[in-house]
Amino acid sequence: MAYAAFRSIGAYVPSKILTNAELAVMVDTSDEWITKRTGIKERRISAKNETTSDMGVKAAKKAIERSGVDVGEIDMIICATISPDYFCMPSTATIISNKLGLANVTAFDISAACTGFVYILSIAKAFIESGMKKNILIIGAEKLSAITDYTDRGTCILFGDGAGAAIISATDNKEEAIIDIHTGADGTFADLLMTPNGGSGSMHDSLDREAAGCFMQMKGNETFKVAVRTLTKDVIEILQENKIDSSDVKHFIPHQANLRIIKAVGDALKFKDDQVVLTVAKFGNTSGASIPMAINDIYEEGKLKYGELMLLDAFGGGLTWGSALVPFSPLK
Ligand code: ACO
Repeated sequence: MAYAAFRSIGAYVPSKILTNAELAVMVDTSDEWITKRTGIKERRISAKNETTSDMGVKAAKKAIERSGVDVGEIDMIICATISPDYFCMPSTATIISNKLGLANVTAFDISAACTGFVYILSIAKAFIESGMKKNILIIGAEKLSAITDYTDRGTCILFGDGAGAAIISATDNKEEAIIDIHTGADGTFADLLMTPNGGSGSMHDSLDREAAGCFMQMKGNETFKVAVRTLTKDVIEILQENKIDSSDVKHFIPHQANLRIIKAVGDALKFKDDQVVLTVAKFGNTSGASIPMAINDIYEEGKLKYGELMLLDAFGGGLTWGSALVPFSPLK
């Protein structure tokens, strides 16, 4: 049987920084409020002409280079995004495949908001274990600034842009294999976080995106409570089912939505501070890109080593959630 190994990680972070102080000029908020309620100090904003696929390609090139896999060996590309280059088609994954010079791969996007990276990891695992694919490029990429309403202080303080990518490859070494992945969703909470218009459910002729309701809206406080409850429950379950103690997890890498959510979940699960990976202060919430950007952060700091166990944990619009137990398995 083929197993799926998490071979490499890469990320791209736009250079432009948007600080809390700058946001306080745009909406009625303050650095103090944002820091206290979210832990976010700044976030990155892509250039006006820089697309989600542009960022995804830059992250992908790093992941490919670090994987030891030749670009021509990639047989599938999956992109998790809620801010694709084009809302209907072509998919961001196909644009990325073209920019990477790959003419004959399976390529598609998925929409699971902030849980997107865990979802695409589970899809990659399934395709590899079934024997259908061998080297899959997975990418979480977001230009959330394009769908953020910078007059809404309840959302604009949270979100930023960026991309992260990983190569998942077939291996016959069980020690290297992704151990388990949980994914879930509950559509009864669909209205907590949404871009209400612009889809087939509510077509608009207007080209004014604000008037057309194409920006994100969120019931933040309700989302917060469901997030803490769901994330904690999901992590307890995946650890119990796999008979793994939380102390065996080297890196707990949660979706970087809000420091208070991360702390509440981390405390409930009794993770020590040095197990918890935090990038929320400098990148804010980059939705599907946040987990691979955080993995890349510890990788580039030299803190992620062969065989170390990562526990990924995400939550987002849908509502969706997921967790994954993943040993880091670069080719030696
Ligand atoms: N600056 C100052 N005051 C603010 C701001 C702001 N930026 N935003 C809201 N407030 C005010 C509110 O108006 C409210 O005032 P009131 O008491 O006079 O009515 C007060 O602050 C408290 O508002 P809450 O919404 O209750 O604040 P809360 O502590 O819940 O923090 C936040 C808001 C940061 C949005 C939090 O709820 C949160 O992080 N929610 C979860 C987000 C999340 O995880 N989303 C899922 C992933 S995202 C995705 O999938 C794309």
